[in-house]
Amino acid sequence: MSDQIESILHEARVFPPPAEFSAQANVKAEDYQRMMEKAASDHVGFWADLAREKISWHTPFTVTLDDSNAPHYRWFSDGQLNVSYNCLDRHLAEREEKTAIIFESDAGDVTTYTYKELFDEVGRFANALKNLGVQTGDRVIIYMPMIPQAVIAMQACARIGAIHSVVFGGFSAEALKDRIHDAGAKVVITADGGRRGGKVVPLKAAVDQALESGGHCVEKVVVYQHTGEAVEMKATRDLWWHEAERGMPDYCDPVMVDSEHPLFLLYTSGSTGKPKGIQHSSGGYLLNAIITNEWVFDLKDEDIFWCTADVGWITGHTYVAYGPLALGKTIVMFEGVPTYPDAGRFWQMCERHGVTVFYTAPTAIRALMKFGDEIPNQYDLSKLRLLGTVGEPINPEAWMWYYRVIGKERCPIVDTWWQTETGAHMIAPLPGITPLKPGSCTLPLPGIDAAVVDEAGNEIPHGNGGYLVIRKPWPSMLRTVWGDDQRYVDTYWAKFNNRYYVAGDSARRDEDGYFWIMGRIDDVLNVSGHRLGTMEIESALVAHEQVAEAAVVGRPHEVKGEAIVAFVVLKGEIPTGSQRDALVQTLRNWVAKEIGPIAKPDDIRFGSNLPKTRSGKIMRRLLRAIARGERITQDTSTLENPQILEQFMQK
Ligand code: WTA
Repeated sequence: MSDQIESILHEARVFPPPAEFSAQANVKAEDYQRMMEKAASDHVGFWADLAREKISWHTPFTVTLDDSNAPHYRWFSDGQLNVSYNCLDRHLAEREEKTAIIFESDAGDVTTYTYKELFDEVGRFANALKNLGVQTGDRVIIYMPMIPQAVIAMQACARIGAIHSVVFGGFSAEALKDRIHDAGAKVVITADGGRRGGKVVPLKAAVDQALESGGHCVEKVVVYQHTGEAVEMKATRDLWWHEAERGMPDYCDPVMVDSEHPLFLLYTSGSTGKPKGIQHSSGGYLLNAIITNEWVFDLKDEDIFWCTADVGWITGHTYVAYGPLALGKTIVMFEGVPTYPDAGRFWQMCERHGVTVFYTAPTAIRALMKFGDEIPNQYDLSKLRLLGTVGEPINPEAWMWYYRVIGKERCPIVDTWWQTETGAHMIAPLPGITPLKPGSCTLPLPGIDAAVVDEAGNEIPHGNGGYLVIRKPWPSMLRTVWGDDQRYVDTYWAKFNNRYYVAGDSARRDEDGYFWIMGRIDDVLNVSGHRLGTMEIESALVAHEQVAEAAVVGRPHEVKGEAIVAFVVLKGEIPTGSQRDALVQTLRNWVAKEIGPIAKPDDIRFGSNLPKTRSGKIMRRLLRAIARGERITQDTSTLENPQILEQFMQK
């Protein structure tokens, strides 16, 4: 892999934290020192202390880390708790009237929920789920717009120990179906539709389509009435959210579960066709969710925290639905898109709600940066005190724009590296302490033993690229791939004999030990901060009746990070002219239908075969070069069929 991990960035600028920020930060230099020392000398004790301090346990744990069946680690395994209790009940005495959620709809209407109101909503809906027969351990699919009911549904599941799996509302019926089947879900919670950028997203119709072919265990579909559009309701299967809640009391006893009880599954792309159900625990997950909101986002009681991620992604779990609520803080939720009604929407909302801590993705920053400084300059952004990014490496130019135009050179930027699998931030600055370098996620958090290693698993000298690994278990690590322990071991542990967690990213450290993420080493693309497996898109293409074979690669893209390029071999002749254009459109729409619009190839090329080695392996290296429009300088002597490169070079 050495050719792809040459270090790419040479960024010399350093931004130390402003003194006023450091003075008020949750983590100060002396705390950091103490934590780093404790974690180094007693890794397990470090986590035990935090778990006792931050979580309200029903039954305190006595075993901190059980590594007897590594890499199936278990944390706080004899402890019992309820995550929803930790997010709601425990705040009532002090924060009943405090705002938990400020929600702004696509159209701009604002609704707020206090902690007491949210507590009642969650209790009522949890009772409704129980009444429908949902029991501890049952799987519930949540396919919702980005509205408070999505969080209420997640919290209600947590309250009764049901395992939720949120499916991003932008995924298609096909993708939803796969997840419903794989999770063995008993109930699906959805809405009639969502609204994004003035358009209605018909969610209920997608659920109907996903369930149509049968072969699943879904007994009930609960539909929240949100847009008021007409939807079909199946008499014995479907019921409205408000009907399900009729007569239900507001209070629902939280079910105390073992710390290892799965809180949720979240499907993510891997390097094979089938998405993996990443399984997270209750206690361990909650702990890292809490501490990272406290340490990295520096959340205070007065803060208004807006993480723009949808609850369909891990970021929307840890930094919307769970972490900030477990800390009793106020969050903003937004149903719409950053460019509707215009590209000032984010900044207008920051002004309107007095957002103090703002967390978004580099792709959004790049997209908004293109509209210039005038738009953000029209809004009062003076309440902002801290900015964050996640999802992909941020290019220094976008970092500087964010820093200068949004943060007015006042706000530190926390560039947070983590994954669906890690549950919470792993490598990220502590905003009161860590000097920032644009484009680097800086240093591992206390208790996180991240390293860059070579093929043999040895740490690499600073300056060179290698595999990003985590060498010690941490509480919010994934527990397994749902229903597939072997895939868990093979994907994340096998490479270094189960000693290290393998993130699937390459990285290098600079002379200060700072981490610079260089990208994925597996066949996973990062399109607008969303992970998409090339295999997943290939399987979708091959499922089309005209397609014989397909290979998908990424190409750098100014806004999206990566664009998707598909190389397709057809069963019949390659069409020409307008027929060719029509087929390209058909295939693009086909992939959107199979997976979701985010997976639509930007570019489709046809050829009579894929470039393969004599042993039949697809030469993705070559395809990547073609996708980038580069001249082929690589050795093609191992290629079975060199002439087809010419075909693929034609658009
Ligand atoms: C990438 C999102 C560089 C990385 C939380 C990782 C990043 C994948 C960063 C996980 C960052 C995430 N800098 N790259 N700050 N954050 N990534 O599971 O390739 O959707 O492996 O989790 O996104 O994506 P996921």
